[in-house]
Amino acid sequence: MADNRPIGIFDSGIGGLTVLREIIAQVPSESTIYFGDDGRSPYGTKSHDTIIKYSLQDMKFLKSQGVKMIVIACNTASTHAYKTLSQVCDVPVVEVVVPGAQAAVKATKNGKIGIIATRATIGSGVYESAVRECGKDIEGLEVVSQACPLFVSLAEEGWWDDDVAYLTAQKYLEPLKKAGVDTVVLACTHYPLLANTISKVMGPGVTLINSGIAVAGVVKDILEKNDMKADGKEVTRAFYTSDDPKLFEQVASPFLGRGLPQGTKRVQVDKYDT
Ligand code: DGL
Repeated sequence: MADNRPIGIFDSGIGGLTVLREIIAQVPSESTIYFGDDGRSPYGTKSHDTIIKYSLQDMKFLKSQGVKMIVIACNTASTHAYKTLSQVCDVPVVEVVVPGAQAAVKATKNGKIGIIATRATIGSGVYESAVRECGKDIEGLEVVSQACPLFVSLAEEGWWDDDVAYLTAQKYLEPLKKAGVDTVVLACTHYPLLANTISKVMGPGVTLINSGIAVAGVVKDILEKNDMKADGKEVTRAFYTSDDPKLFEQVASPFLGRGLPQGTKRVQVDKYDT
């Protein structure tokens, strides 16, 4: 029997839309509910405990909407809160770190991989460990991690491809260029918005990994293996934010395309008690 409940996706803000876009592309018959916690963004500068608390509330809100799966479309929340969420949640929880790490290991030719992310993600060491674990058969594997906190503000501001973004990227990416990495993991779901700029700075020979593509593949697999697929007769796309819906739609629409998002509603997420 078809399972027409929606898939719930959350991020600290608009970054997770890069994951939603890939989910829509790979499983178009599935309904989705997206929640961006713009009112409390960024997560990347918050403490471990706060990230867990916020992520639990995000999950509880989505659960209250009757979702059949939760996708943590945020690397910061995935590295700090995945374990907790997967322990307490009664529907499958998908995170973004392992799919991204696997894709990076598959892509590298010289065994030198760069990871760029928020301070909280880099500081947790979880991403680097995942890449080392997935790449344990690569002799002399080198991993260079770099926090790029300003990229989140640039992405939220819509400054994706201008001089400010370019200069900022040049400064942050210098250690990765020096190390000669041939693969860079965009280990923050906001960063695919800056992919053009990052690519210009890193040069044409460097592969950028957008884990959203791999994550959507994981979602598809879980739906198929657990007989959870929707029949696609009535597909809905709902959007929620903890800040101003108009602001959310302004920033999100040029990026998401297809006339989305529409009808975004505001939710007071902190009432979903942990
Ligand atoms: N999109 C979040 C991530 O993937 C980062 C943004 C933030 O710091 O809140 O890590």
